[in-house]
Amino acid sequence: MNVVGIETSCDETAAAVVQDGKKILSSVVATSLKEHRDFGGIIPEIASRRQMEFIQTVVKRSLQKAHLKLKDVDLIATTVSPGLIGSLLVGAAFGRGLAFATKKPFIEVDHIMAHLYANFLGENPPPFPAVGLIVSGGHSALYLVESPTVYRLVGQTRDDAAGECFDKVARLLGLGYPGGPAIEKAAQKGEKGRISFPCAKLKGSYDFSFSGIKTSVLYYLKEHWNKRKVTIADIAYAFQESIVETLVQKTIDLCRQMRIATLLMGGGVSANSFLRKRIREEAQKCNISVFQPPLWLCTDNAAMIGGLGYHLFLQKHHRAYLKKGGRDAYAKRVRYHW
Ligand code: KG4
Ligand code: ZN
Repeated sequence: MNVVGIETSCDETAAAVVQDGKKILSSVVATSLKEHRDFGGIIPEIASRRQMEFIQTVVKRSLQKAHLKLKDVDLIATTVSPGLIGSLLVGAAFGRGLAFATKKPFIEVDHIMAHLYANFLGENPPPFPAVGLIVSGGHSALYLVESPTVYRLVGQTRDDAAGECFDKVARLLGLGYPGGPAIEKAAQKGEKGRISFPCAKLKGSYDFSFSGIKTSVLYYLKEHWNKRKVTIADIAYAFQESIVETLVQKTIDLCRQMRIATLLMGGGVSANSFLRKRIREEAQKCNISVFQPPLWLCTDNAAMIGGLGYHLFLQKHHRAYLKKGGRDAYAKRVRYHW
């Protein structure tokens, strides 16, 4: 089954053709990122205007690259939430219009669930049950994943998302936008242990809170800048380390508590090499298998939308199915062992 995936939830305009939920025949991503840089964040109006211009060419290009014609397409899957409303509207209206005009089925896909689905693109899908860690520009959350389409939310950020925090701190440090890759690069020259920025632990909960650390960096800069021999690289290192260790600790704790030996990662921040390395190290100690999408599938793309859309269509769901009840409901129902 050939599925055209369409993704326009933020600054990207993306289309991909995915066969049977696993084989990526093509993936095209156009972005208006450069135009947002001077503002230090995404300007929704600019993003959606560019998406209006790009969408038709991007979808056409994805079909050409897959060596397919519209008549060879069996399903159109499009991101409908969450995201910038003007941007989502462009993709959803285009996808629906295309489906209507060509008499093909149309399916709505949830962007966050699709980020986790990036792990299932390929020949060796992860086993279930799994813990899913989503860390993107707009979301940070932990899920119990029962199948490619069934998830339970266990914890989420109470304020800033991890990616949002990277972006805001990068701005404070004058490192530009997007902040995640800029902080990762700066941190490579930083020295461990010169400063530390505490991250809220929120004991007894799988929620996160990242807004405090951003304020700590701000006050540190105000009070100590030019007084101590600490560089921007050292601050970037300390900040990245604190965010990463918080994410790693909560995620591994959840795997251990639920006795789940599979861990999936997704979202833009999961491209961070320090996070990827630290989570693999800690998971190995507990015999947990970690699945991390290749870097280009961590950030926004349409292959993950086409892939998840295929499964939703087969199951006649119209969205990834987020089940009610978190850990307790899950634990009552399933007892898995190592
Ligand atoms: O998933 P994504 O492409 O878009 C959303 O769904 O939000 O994630 C974008 C976020 C941005 O905040 C960006 O700074 C962050 O992912 N990001 C990173 C890295 N690459 C992208 N954060 C840390 N390290 C990276 N290497
Ligand atoms: Zn995303």
